[in-house]
Amino acid sequence: MVLTDEVSRFVRAVGPEHTDVQARMAAFADDHEFPNIGPESGAVLRLLARLTDADTVFEFGSGFGYSASWFLRGGADRVILTEFDADELDQGREFMREAGLAGRCIFEEGDAMETIERYDGPFDVVLVDHQKERYADAFDAVRDKFAPGGVVAADNVMRGPIDFDALLAHVEGDTTGGEEDSEGALASANDQTRGIADYLAAVRDDPDFETAILPVGSGLAVSTKVD
Ligand SMILES: C[S@@+](CC[C@H](N)C(=O)[O-])C[C@H]1O[C@@H](n2cnc3c(N)ncnc32)[C@H](O)[C@@H]1O
Repeated sequence: MVLTDEVSRFVRAVGPEHTDVQARMAAFADDHEFPNIGPESGAVLRLLARLTDADTVFEFGSGFGYSASWFLRGGADRVILTEFDADELDQGREFMREAGLAGRCIFEEGDAMETIERYDGPFDVVLVDHQKERYADAFDAVRDKFAPGGVVAADNVMRGPIDFDALLAHVEGDTTGGEEDSEGALASANDQTRGIADYLAAVRDDPDFETAILPVGSGLAVSTKVD
C-alpha cells in the first residue's frame, strides 16, 4: 500500500462532499466495481479547472462521467468525454442530465486516441485515465494542443493495475533485473506498469513541461506547460 489508510481517510474527510448526483455515481461505481478516480483526486481535478479558469477539458477515458463531474464543479465551461463503452457513456449522459450539466459535456464514443485527432484544442486541462500502456501516446497527441498554462493530469501512477514496487525501483535507477534482462526493475512488471514508466519519462523529459506527483487517490502526475 502506497498511502496509509489514515492519510487517505484524512484527505477524504477534509475534502469536498459529493453532490447528490456524484454520490449516486460513486454508489454505481461501487456496485459495478468500476475504477473511477475517487473523491480525493476529484478534488484535485476541481482545483485544476478552477486554477486554469478552464474553458475546455479533454478526457482520455471517461467512464460514466465521474471525473468529468469534478471538472465541471470547478467551473470548466465544457468537458469532452471519450469512452469506447457505449453503455458507460449512455449512463454518463443520464447522470449529467440529472445533474443539469449535460449542456457542458461533449460525449464522444469510440477510441479516445482517434477522437483526439479531431480536436485541435486549445485545452486548459487534459485527464489521461484510459489504457495505461497508451498514456505516453496520449501525451504525444496533446502536447501541442494546450492553452498557455495548460495542465495534463494522469491517474494511476502509483496504484491500480500496476506493480508499484517495480516502478519505484525503476525510477530510483535499479537496473538489476537479471542477467539477460535489459530493462532492469521493469523486466517482470506488466504492460500497465511499463506504460506508466514510459509516461513519466515522457513528461519529465519534456523541457516544455514541469511535473509534480500528487500521492492522492491512485496517484496523480500533474504536468504544466511552462512556455
Ligand atoms: C479508469 S476508467 C476512467 C474513469 C473516469 N476517468 C473516472 O474517473 O470517472 C477508464 C475508462 O476508460 C475507458 N477506456 C480505456 N481505453 C480507452 C480508449 N482507448 N478510448 C476510450 N475509452 C477508453 C474504459 O472503458 C474505462 O471506462
